[in-house]
Amino acid sequence: MTTDSDEIDPGRIARLHADELSRFRSQRPRSIELIERARAHMPNGVPMSWMVTDNDQAIYVAHGIGASIVDVDGHSYLDFNTSDVAMFCGHAVPEIVDAVRRQVGRSTQFLLPTEDSIAVAEELADRYPVGFWQFTLSATQANTEAIRLARAVTGRDVVVLFQGHYHGHFEEGLVDLTGGGPQPVARGLSKAVTGRTRIVPFNDLERLRAALATDDVAIVLTEPAMTNQVHFVEPSPEWHPTLRELTRHHGTLLALDETHTHVVGRGGATGLWQLEPDIVTIGKSIAGGIPLGAYGVTASLAEELHSSRNIATGGTLFGNPLSAAAARATLTQVLTPAAYLHAATLGNELADGIQRAIDAHGLPWTAIRFGPRSGQWYGPAPSTSTEALALAVTNFDLTRLIRIWLANRGIWEALPGAGPNVPIPATGEDIQHYLSAYGELLDALTT
Ligand SMILES: Cc1ncc(COP(=O)(O)O)c(C=O)c1O
Repeated sequence: MTTDSDEIDPGRIARLHADELSRFRSQRPRSIELIERARAHMPNGVPMSWMVTDNDQAIYVAHGIGASIVDVDGHSYLDFNTSDVAMFCGHAVPEIVDAVRRQVGRSTQFLLPTEDSIAVAEELADRYPVGFWQFTLSATQANTEAIRLARAVTGRDVVVLFQGHYHGHFEEGLVDLTGGGPQPVARGLSKAVTGRTRIVPFNDLERLRAALATDDVAIVLTEPAMTNQVHFVEPSPEWHPTLRELTRHHGTLLALDETHTHVVGRGGATGLWQLEPDIVTIGKSIAGGIPLGAYGVTASLAEELHSSRNIATGGTLFGNPLSAAAARATLTQVLTPAAYLHAATLGNELADGIQRAIDAHGLPWTAIRFGPRSGQWYGPAPSTSTEALALAVTNFDLTRLIRIWLANRGIWEALPGAGPNVPIPATGEDIQHYLSAYGELLDALTT
């Protein structure tokens, strides 16, 4: 596929990027000073070294409130990264702050349950077509345990994932399809991991059939729609019905990871498309930014989780009362049908505005539209994750420019590979602010 953004002079992109980055840095002396100080004891001067890799320039944050974050130099940003969807509910949300404050005063872990955990499991069981829930501290760990459960039940080893996926940093999750075969995407993994991980292009039914045909696959783990590394790829109409039929036929479990896609509504994309998974995994924003991961399973799989069956699950702080209190408040008071509708309405406005700006500037790009999430393809929407990856990689310089351009105009854009995600506390004015900065960028790129 050709990328029509090639029509924009790469020299112009590079010049604009250099100007914006220099302006950004010169206006953030305190952040730069803190990063320099931090380098003495933290690689790259940040708590996770890739905070720098993913951003041209990391900033240190002072606080967040509602839809915004404020850095230590006093710059305020509309938070459309939402910490990669973890802060979809917004910052310092009163209902969540109150619940957390109350629970901290009563202590935060007993290795025994509190009643809040029942309310959270009930709420999740009401949202997703799997009735039995277990808790971890992150979506990564929920996916890890889903895989362990599937291996225990099927007696098989192989995990199938889709190209351009991200489900967390467990071993199989860091294998992707490059150069025709599965390869680790980062250093530090066991060499054996590629032998037990099979990667298929999303929406490629033929390759999916071949991947499952050998009857050695324990589990297919996928997002209902791809939202990572590939910006966004929607399932083709036949994709999910065939995936379900094939997994059932071959005795493979099907897990849907709703960690990002749950933002489209109360039952996530599983509810939207009436999907029938064996396992649902989720994390990030379900506890409003307090660490919590969860996985829900069918009644028959739940039987396997009885303690006597000894499946490798669990951690000392998993499912703790603080996470449970935060999740109860988040799910019952913040992630309400009205809140999902509000975010989706603004997401649509954002997508409409992005498409209008694209058309007005004569660019052959396409706005992405998925509930509160938007962004753009630098060409027509791709139909498989292979096409999507090619587009995303080719346009990395443009993506970097968009992020720094928006940051200088008070908007913290989504990470490269993702799209802006409207947080629940955002307003129509925030969308207009984004669109005005976006329109100015397209002016600068095209005139
Ligand atoms: C779909 C999906 N699942 C799981 C994860 C892992 O989440 P965490 O890093 O919070 O464990 C991510 C992170 O981006 C994700 O996008």
